[in-house]
Formats: sequence, C-alpha cells, structure tokens
Amino acid sequence: MNRIAIAAANCRNSRQGLLLKAACKASLAGGALLTSLYNQPHIIRMKGKTDLVTEADLAAEAAITASLQEDTPGIALLAEESAKDHTSDHEGQLWIVDPLDGTTNFAHGFPYFAVSIALFDHGRPQVCAIYSPCMDELFYACAGKGAWLNGEPIKVTATCQLIESLIGTGFPYDIPRHLPELISQLKTILLQVRDIRRAGAAALDLAYVACGRLDGFYERELQPWDTAAGWLLVEEAGGRVSDYAGKPFSALAREIVATNSSLHHKLLPLLT
Ligand code: IPD
Ligand code: CA
Ligand code: CA
Repeated sequence: MNRIAIAAANCRNSRQGLLLKAACKASLAGGALLTSLYNQPHIIRMKGKTDLVTEADLAAEAAITASLQEDTPGIALLAEESAKDHTSDHEGQLWIVDPLDGTTNFAHGFPYFAVSIALFDHGRPQVCAIYSPCMDELFYACAGKGAWLNGEPIKVTATCQLIESLIGTGFPYDIPRHLPELISQLKTILLQVRDIRRAGAAALDLAYVACGRLDGFYERELQPWDTAAGWLLVEEAGGRVSDYAGKPFSALAREIVATNSSLHHKLLPLLT
C-alpha cells in the first residue's frame, strides 16, 4: 500500500477516507512542486513590506487546486493566493488551502515550510493533511478517528509544567502594530518556559504540537489557511485549541493557542 492508501485505511470510513485521500494526494502534489523549485532562483513579488509571494506559492496552489477539483468536483475551495472574501462562515463543504506555509523560509532556503489542506463542513474541519517536503513528513487527521505522521499514530506530549515545555510562536507581518504586545508576551512567557521557538510556518508548528515536538503554540493575526489543518491535527492528537481568551476556536478566529491540553490553562493567562 502506498501512503495515500494507508491514510484512507486509517480513516476507516468510506466518505471521510475519500476526502482524506484527496487531501493527501493534493498535498504531495503541491510538495513535489515546491521541492522542484526550492533550489532555483525565485520570482518574488511583495504583498506588503515583508510579506512575500513567490512563483512557487502560485504554482503549488495551481497544482493543489487542480488535484482537489479532479478528485472532489463541486466542493468549494478557499486557497490563500486566490482568496477573495473569507470573512463570513461558509455553509457546507469547503477546502481550505495554504499552498506554501512558510514562504519567507522557502525564499531564504530555510527548510521549514509545508503545504496545508483541510476540508471543512459547516465550519468544522473533517479531514486534513500537512506535508513538509524537506522532511518528507505527511501529517494527517480525520475527525473522530485520530492523527498520524507518515502512517503512524501521533499524540501530544504529557508535559504538565510550563518550565519543562517548549513553546512555539510566530510574528505577524504587520509587526509595528503588534510589537508592544509581542514583546510583553515574550518577556512573560520566556521566563516561565524551557524555551520558545519561532520557526516560521504556523501550520507546521501546529503539526509539531500534534506530534509532541512542541508542547504548545500561540500566534495572532493568522488566516484560516494557516490554522485550518493544524487545528484538527492537534485536537485529534489529544490537544486543545482555543483563542487567547480560552473560547472555542473557529475557522475565522485570528488568534490561536494550541497545547497538549494539560498546559492550556497555564499558558492562557500569560497571553492576556
Ligand atoms: C505565515 C507563516 C508564519 C506566520 C505568519 C503566516 P505564509 O504564512 O505561517 O509562520 O508567522 O503569520 O502568515 O505567509 O508563509 O503562508
Ligand atoms: Ca501561511
Ligand atoms: Ca502561504
């Protein structure tokens, strides 16, 4: 069995299995494209002062979209580089795609980036895949069935003490507007945890919480395509996901706290 077939078999449900197969296949197709362009010179356009888009974001999005449309015709799609309005809840099924999460890393040859794909139904993630091409790691999850990395079940850490935890975070592109809050949170959290990582790809950071490489992650000013897949992965791996106030997470929430669950109530007060 190849790894797409193994993913569907792990899912043990024909409808969810088909959707998961489509998500895994599209994420591997996007990942193959990113790999082929990774060591080439890039065509870079600026979306903001520090916010890049490369030829690889666009090419990966085209490959992923084509794959999803072929395998699941008729399901609507929200993908970062072609997104227009995504401020309202979507009724029914919707693919949410980040073709290249970690564009800055990709453009600098820093091998921490991923493809992120999730299928939502009435605002809840049902299946998801996050593929890290440089590590050849395929994370996926199925609502109610669990989370896996390259076919093996994954779960969050059992760490209960902040001082024993490794916490991930990220910084928004609009740094000047958020700098005081970012610095104050870093000052507070750095003193209470073992260490902090800012690796540069929110979807992959969430996958790392799901598989126990990080004990928690927080970031604000994120978009649905940054969090859609990682949200399901963390929950299916036994973790907890909320906004900074501890309220249930939603696809349109701009801020996320994801932990191994045990640390959630300890991390939340440090963010507010
Ligand atoms: C970004 C990455 C980064 C996070 C930013 C995101 P992009 O996504 O996930 O880690 O800090 O907030 O926008 O632009 O590389 O897809
Ligand atoms: Ca992203
Ligand atoms: Ca992106």
